[in-house]
Amino acid sequence: SRSLSKYFKAGDEIIVSNSDHEANIGPWIALQDNGIKIKFWNINTNNYQLELDELNSLMSDKTKLVAFTHASNILGTINPIKEITEFVHSKNAMVCVDGVAYAPHRHLDVQDWDVDFYVFSLYKVYGPHYSLLYGKEAVLEQLTGINHYFITKDELPYKLQPGNVNFELAYGSTGILDYLNLLYDEHFSEKDSLLNSRLKKVFALIAEHEEEIVSPLIEFLKSRSNIEIIGETCADKEIRVPTVSFIVKNRKSSEIPLQLDPFKMGIRWGDFYARRLIESLKIDHIDGVVRISMVHYNTKSEVEKLISLLNNII
Ligand SMILES: Cc1ncc(COP(=O)(O)O)c(C=O)c1O
Repeated sequence: SRSLSKYFKAGDEIIVSNSDHEANIGPWIALQDNGIKIKFWNINTNNYQLELDELNSLMSDKTKLVAFTHASNILGTINPIKEITEFVHSKNAMVCVDGVAYAPHRHLDVQDWDVDFYVFSLYKVYGPHYSLLYGKEAVLEQLTGINHYFITKDELPYKLQPGNVNFELAYGSTGILDYLNLLYDEHFSEKDSLLNSRLKKVFALIAEHEEEIVSPLIEFLKSRSNIEIIGETCADKEIRVPTVSFIVKNRKSSEIPLQLDPFKMGIRWGDFYARRLIESLKIDHIDGVVRISMVHYNTKSEVEKLISLLNNII
């Protein structure tokens, strides 16, 4: 946002979604100091959707960028990234998409989606505490770096790094591909020579398994009249990732995970830094929601155990 801000002028507008983690809101709001106007794209609190009609009503010829999340880290809903991006581009603006809650679960294809910027944390995709920013080369080339003055404009990606490369983490990140390749070898007998097609197959398998393990959990939560799922109430892999949040009538969210800890079930509560979303849903942001975040290495029997424990304590 700091590099891009040099290309925006006072009066230009940026739209941020209120369903985002603060990581994709705060850095844009900081540009208000340069006279940039920030508008909020609020979710429909009845169906938890970010709606294009609402976005359309916020767009103007001054809109330069729309920042939104690919999947909310609370709701688990997958936003239609390609459709939103196409719409924003039709209004001559760019998109910056937060992929942190999506990237652990599905295959990424920034070129197909045609996004301008896509950001996620490598520790969420089974790697080290390091992050990744994708940007279209033509856009990145124009940006002024935040690094030393003698690092020139054409030094990509170096000019955008706040310091030297962290070699340990950069090299450690290559282990993510090793891991995904191992998953491929474990599950597919034919040997596809193209990395991208191996990754597509692995993530298709991951999506299938995730739908299978999230389904019984969602069915259980729906069957309880004192539980309200905060987000999509369907398990469809096209619609959600297996990050499921809920609140329990007359119970504090903070009580519930603590009762599962002794059984080595790690679920958590709070606003998960998506405080604006929690507040818009009129939920106390300190207590927040209970969140169950599953990934492909969770098993059916773990979910059965979780359901039976939840059944006892709620
Ligand atoms: C959706 C989402 N965006 C951004 C972040 C922030 O990522 P980091 O922890 O790398 O700052 C998180 C962290 O949980 C997240 O869930």
